[in-house]
Amino acid sequence: MKGIVLAGGTATRLFPLTIVTNKHLLPIYDRPMIYYPIETLAGMGIREVMVIVGGKSVGDVVELLADGAHFGLDLTYRYQRGALGIAHAIGLARGFVGGDDFCCVLGDNILRGPALADVAGDFAAGSCGAGTLLYEVPDPERFGVAEFDAAGTLVGFEEKPQQPKSDLIPIGVYFLRPDAFDVIDRLAPSGRGEFEITDVLNHYIPNGGLFWRRYEGSWTDAGTVPSLLRAAEMAAGDASEGRLLPPPPRPGQ
Ligand code: G1P
Repeated sequence: MKGIVLAGGTATRLFPLTIVTNKHLLPIYDRPMIYYPIETLAGMGIREVMVIVGGKSVGDVVELLADGAHFGLDLTYRYQRGALGIAHAIGLARGFVGGDDFCCVLGDNILRGPALADVAGDFAAGSCGAGTLLYEVPDPERFGVAEFDAAGTLVGFEEKPQQPKSDLIPIGVYFLRPDAFDVIDRLAPSGRGEFEITDVLNHYIPNGGLFWRRYEGSWTDAGTVPSLLRAAEMAAGDASEGRLLPPPPRPGQ
């Protein structure tokens, strides 16, 4: 499997913190935000990762992560012009992904808990067209929200609904196959002018099935001021465990 980390966007919800810098460089306790999604991919055993960059301070993101050798990874980059959404950003990785299955992690998603190698392996070995992880949150209206029928079958996702149909949201971990690029090519932009990942996931529910698991660890995004604080508290709470990678040396060392 290959990996993608999305580190573009304008991060207006964090203004003024992100007026002059990239959200993914902000500190989460003892490390820059973007280290966490990279650790999530490394924990799956993924070694080849593309970072989709955009917005502010792109050069600083590249300087921080460099070629990834200090993480034991092989990193490459692609630039996303504008903030056209998660599905658009994933579409930029088509050439990098080639014929492989891949996992995309959002650059502001902090996961602390069991490594996901088994989950990634189950997706790869199965026949579902796409997959994600669900997590229960108190404020589902901020996210994509899962809807289930009376029998408990997942029937769809709604992006940022005013009336959420459950408390379960798809976190920013997406398992996909190369076929997803054709689905992305056919997407129409949503009301907020973005190409939505939830539309990609919804496509697969009746077409080959969607793989999903409850995420068993702790999760938060870090894209708003309250969630940025929550992420730091979460990371501080388990600073001694769940670290999948050794502390990286400073670039150049
Ligand atoms: C995005 C996705 C949403 C998902 C969330 C997880 O939201 O669109 O479906 O639940 O990430 O962090 P955004 O960060 O664009 O608000």
